[in-house]
Formats: sequence, C-alpha cells, structure tokens
Amino acid sequence: MNPTRTLLAAVLVGTALLLTGCEHPPMKHEQIGYRGTGMERIVNPRTVAENAPLHAAPEAAPAAPADGPKATLLYKNLQVLGDLNVAEFNRTMAAFTQWVAPNEGCTHCHNPANFADDSKYTKVVARRMIQMTREINGNWHDHVADTGVTCYTCHRGHNIPEKSWVAERETVTEGRMLGNNFGQNRAGMASVGNSSLPYDPYTPFLLKAHEIRVAGSTALPTGNKSSIKNAEATHGLMIHMSEALGVGCTWCHNTRAMAEWSQSTPQRVQAWHGIRMVRAINNDFIVPLTPITPPERLGAMGDIPKANCATCHQGANKPLMGAAMAKDYPALAGTARAPAPVAVARAGKN
Ligand code: HEC
Ligand code: HEC
Ligand code: HEC
Ligand code: HEC
Repeated sequence: MNPTRTLLAAVLVGTALLLTGCEHPPMKHEQIGYRGTGMERIVNPRTVAENAPLHAAPEAAPAAPADGPKATLLYKNLQVLGDLNVAEFNRTMAAFTQWVAPNEGCTHCHNPANFADDSKYTKVVARRMIQMTREINGNWHDHVADTGVTCYTCHRGHNIPEKSWVAERETVTEGRMLGNNFGQNRAGMASVGNSSLPYDPYTPFLLKAHEIRVAGSTALPTGNKSSIKNAEATHGLMIHMSEALGVGCTWCHNTRAMAEWSQSTPQRVQAWHGIRMVRAINNDFIVPLTPITPPERLGAMGDIPKANCATCHQGANKPLMGAAMAKDYPALAGTARAPAPVAVARAGKN
C-alpha cells in the first residue's frame, strides 16, 4: 500500500469510529416555531418505532355496572375508595395489580388472611398513592389537562417506577479541596446528559424551590443572586427536562431569548406548572412516606425514591403519547380530600 492509501484508510477507519456514536440519517423534522427561528423538532423515526411499546397504554378493563352496593357495605377498612360500588372496587383492585404488581399479585399489598389488615407497608403507601394520583388529576389540570394520569403512567408494571431519583452519595471532603467535587465535574452523569454540570438537578429544583434563573432580574449588586453555579444548575435541569420529554430546547424556548416568555411556546408554560406539580407531589406525598418504607428501598443517603419529569414522561413529550387512561377509572378522579391514613399523618409531622 502506498502512503497516501494508508493515510486514507486510516482516516476512513477513524471517521467510522467517530460516527459509531451518531445516529444515521434520514431524520424527520417538524417546524414548531415561526419561520427563520430555527425552532424545529428533529426525531429519528427508527428510535420512535423502537420505543413505541414503552409508550403504548394498556387497554382498560371493561366498564363495571354503574349500580350495586357501595364497597363500604361489604368491606371493613376503606379510607379512600368507599364511594365506589363493589364491582368498580374490584375492577380497580385488578387494575392496581396489573399496573404495579403484575408478578406479585394481590399479596404485594395484602395479607391474604385478612384483606382489611394494614400491616403491609405497601398497602399504606398505595392508599397515599391513590390520593396523590387524585390530587394530580384534580388539582394540576394546568399540567396534565384532560389526559390525566393513572398508576401505570409512572409504574408501568414495576413495583417502583423505573425512572425515579435518590440523592447522590456525597463525596469525601476531609478538608481537601481536591477531594470534593462540590456536586459537579463527575464524568458520565446521565442525570445531566453526561456533561460536567452539577449532577443533581433534582434536589434544588424538584424538591426545594431554588430560583430557575440565569440572568438576574435586577441591576447589580443588589438582588442579583444568580451566580455562575446557579446558571450551570439551571442548565442541568433543562437537560433533564429535554431528555425526559425527548425534545430539544426549542420545544419550549426561542433560543435567541431563553428567558423571554412572550417568545416561548405554550409548552413552556405547561412545563412551568409541571415543575411546581413535581415539587408538590414529592414534598406532600412521597417524602412523608419515608419512615414506613423499608431501608432496602431507600437510596445511599437514606432518602426515598422521588418523582422527576422522566417518572411520567419516560422520553415522550406526552406520557403514553397522550393516551387518556385516567377517564376510565373513577377511583382516580377528584382530589386528595380524604384524610391521610394515620401512619402517614404521624410520619409527616417529624
Ligand atoms: C398496589 C396495592 C394493592 C394491590 C396490588 C391490591 N390492593 Fe386491594 N387494597 C389496596 C388498598 C390501598 C386498599 C384500601 C383502600 C381504602 O382504604 O379505601 C385495598 C383494599 C382492598 C379490599 C378491602 C378490604 C377491607 O375489608 O377493607 C379488598 C377486598 C381488596 N383490596 C382486594 C384486593 C384483591 C382481590 C386484589 C388482587 C386482585 C388486590 N386487592 C390488590 C391496595 C392494593
Ligand atoms: C407520579 C408518579 C406515581 C404515580 C402516579 C403512582 N406512583 Fe406509586 N410510586 C411512585 C414512586 C416515585 C414510588 C417510590 C417511593 C415510595 O416507595 O413511596 C412509588 C411507590 C409505590 C409503592 C411502594 C412499592 C414498594 O414495593 O416499595 C406502591 C405500593 C405504589 N407506589 C402504588 C401505587 C398505586 C396503587 C398507584 C395508583 C393509585 C401509584 N402508585 C401511582 C410514583 C408514582
Ligand atoms: C419542556 C420545556 C423546556 C425545555 C425543553 C427547556 N426549557 Fe428552559 N425553561 C423552561 C421553563 C418552564 C423555565 C422557567 C422555569 C421557572 O421559572 O420555574 C425555563 C428556564 C430556562 C432558563 C432560565 C431563563 C431565565 O429566566 O434566566 C434558561 C437559560 C433555559 N431555560 C435554557 C434551556 C436550555 C439551554 C434548554 C435545552 C437544553 C432548555 N431550556 C429546555 C422550560 C423548558
Ligand atoms: C405525574 C405525571 C407527570 C409528571 C411527573 C410530569 N408530567 Fe408533563 N405531562 C403529563 C401529562 C399527563 C401530560 C399531557 C397533558 C396534555 O394532554 O396536554 C404532560 C404534558 C407535558 C407537556 C406538554 C407536551 C406537549 O407536547 O404539548 C410538557 C412541556 C411537560 N409535560 C413537561 C413536564 C416537565 C418539564 C416535567 C418535570 C418538571 C413534567 N412534565 C412532569 C404528566 C406528567
């Protein structure tokens, strides 16, 4: 081989290696903003086809007859589902089993010797989850619209949703600057798209209510609390939101003016409500369940698995491609009016 050929071959092999990380064309794109703004959504039709089963909603069980005795007449310990008739109650229990514990069956939540018994923590958690689901459907219409959610939106047949988050293990400080990465610059953190950005975008924004800002809204020096680290943290959250929905930044922003609401898409407003909704369900429903959750279910820092945007969306801009499952389950409509179960009310106070 002459030297030019060898060089050419080396370049070709090199290029081929570099491109193995890329997706091959053709891609599909869709215009989502005004002409000339570059607001387009690019999708790979092959990836969409591959992921289709994940986003397919299971078919609803046949509707139960609307009459018949109320479940409270038959059962002893109903704190939230008592208003359903017996047929709808049983249909709901079958659906819970299919959505949350298809392999374990009823005994995932129940003591088979006594279904009224609350000794399994999973039953107490499930009761609170019913109230949480009602709260999402009833009080967060600005986010979930008429599509709503069911247990399946998050659980997809798993005891614990596959997409949930716990706090990262803290790095050792021991007084050394180099021993502590201050929550950033760690390679391969999927939470922020493998970037070196602060890798926990969830605690500050989806549990606590830190400002999601890059530019300060007042002149320096007073009032502008936006540091470079805040800007990086904001970017980390934006990467999480984009990946969770399978979209780019322009699904919500006109990138010439990120902060400008008047140039953003309606989806950005829906996302704004989504951020508040996730904070509310984490703080009001999920975190208070920590004391009754067994240690093996908790993360390395002892915290309970919590929700983020991916818990429901799982890579789709609308969970389950917008399939409106909730309307077929009256048990999941309304709000979390019913009083919290005793164990949880107590747990919430400490
Ligand atoms: C994911 C957890 C979960 C699964 C799985 C589940 N249940 Fe339940 N079940 C509950 C909860 C929570 C209650 C209490 C509802 C309330 O307080 O209103 C309950 C209550 C009941 C009761 C009423 C008992 C009483 O006397 O108070 C019966 C009966 C029942 N379930 C039957 C079943 C059957 C049959 C299955 C399997 C097909 C099943 N459940 C699967 C969570 C579950
Ligand atoms: C917004 C997403 C979301 C929805 C909707 C949801 N869950 Fe959950 N669920 C979670 C998360 C996150 C956890 C893990 C935290 C925990 O254990 O409380 C969980 C945990 C549970 C557990 C404890 C599992 C275990 O083995 O430790 C049960 C039982 C459960 N959910 C039942 C339900 C039922 C029944 C519904 C519908 C009425 C439901 N969930 C709706 C997110 C959700
Ligand atoms: C699903 C919609 C959505 C996507 C996708 C999205 N953002 Fe955002 N972005 C928002 C919302 C909502 C806010 C405001 C949050 C708040 O105020 O609570 C925001 C705020 C911001 C801000 C702060 C603006 C300010 O006021 O200082 C920046 C910068 C930003 N986004 C950049 C990005 C980048 C870069 C991407 C792509 C990696 C992106 N966003 C993807 C919805 C989105
Ligand atoms: C409890 C489940 C759940 C969680 C968690 C959740 N969403 Fe959603 N989201 C939905 C549902 C359901 C819809 C569909 C509503 C509709 O039909 O317009 C939706 C729709 C959206 C839309 C509109 C999409 C479109 O194509 O029009 C955006 C944007 C969005 N969500 C962003 C977010 C962001 C950002 C987060 C995290 C901060 C988040 N969502 C967390 C359930 C959820």
